[in-house]
Amino acid sequence: MEKLFDTSKTIHDRMVHTMIKPLKKDEIKKVIDAGSGKVSASILLKYFPTAKVDAVIFPGDNRKKNMLENSIDSDRLETVEANICETTFRKQYDLCLVHLSLGEALHFNNSFESMFGHIMDIKSDYYIIIDVLEDPCVHFRYIEEYLKEKGFKIIKKKKFRNPHPEHYPKFKYDKYKLEYDSKHFLAYTIKRL
Ligand SMILES: C[S@@+](CC[C@H](N)C(=O)[O-])C[C@H]1O[C@@H](n2cnc3c(N)ncnc32)[C@H](O)[C@@H]1O
Repeated sequence: MEKLFDTSKTIHDRMVHTMIKPLKKDEIKKVIDAGSGKVSASILLKYFPTAKVDAVIFPGDNRKKNMLENSIDSDRLETVEANICETTFRKQYDLCLVHLSLGEALHFNNSFESMFGHIMDIKSDYYIIIDVLEDPCVHFRYIEEYLKEKGFKIIKKKKFRNPHPEHYPKFKYDKYKLEYDSKHFLAYTIKRL
């Protein structure tokens, strides 16, 4: 019997559930959680009950590693410690989830553009990207221009209100020097053409 973290009452669960609607669930067998944690990994295991999930965390990010290990017990989950910006992922995936990871690029000394470009280099038929609309470190206009230029199609785009906004103070690595409140999320379901 698998043990998952209970996400049923969270906005994160509702957002992923909404964004996977255009996909044929039975065809999703290999999934990568690019920037993983107990929430995104549990949601993927729950909505794709026959899929294998590779949970990528930054090497040595023990906070995330321990949370994954303590909250989830599943033979279908593999934790992969790799810097996305320095790794060529060889496997072909059906779906790549990027849930609240892009804003952390600077935290590990990577630029947003490098992190996003390397994520889109992961070989996957579909991508779901969800991040905080107000986060100054996440460049949504760049995302949309990149996708248009590089042969990806946005098949669903949706803004969600965050029922539990948090205040984010200025981080040391935040070159934009802005504080923000996480009032909304912006989500994309993307197909590689
Ligand atoms: C805010 S957490 C994501 C939360 C998670 N998706 C969830 O829903 O529980 C950010 C994640 O991105 C990972 N991360 C950030 N930069 C990374 C990089 N360059 N390579 C690999 N993982 C990275 C961190 O290790 C962490 O697991």
